[in-house]
Amino acid sequence: MEIICSCFGISKEDIQEAIAGGLTTVDDVAEETGASHGCGRCSQEFVKVTKELLSNK
Ligand code: FES
Repeated sequence: MEIICSCFGISKEDIQEAIAGGLTTVDDVAEETGASHGCGRCSQEFVKVTKELLSNK
């Protein structure tokens, strides 16, 4: 399991699940999971991974 955001323990799978649950934007995924709302260190990676997953939908 690949952890993307260690502040909130959000993995790629968690992001995938949020998207499968109907979220359609990076902001919505960030809001729902909390990812990138802590230290912000994961921000770049989080946006990249989430965009990728959204475009694979
Ligand atoms: S690692 Fe994601 S907000 Fe800190």
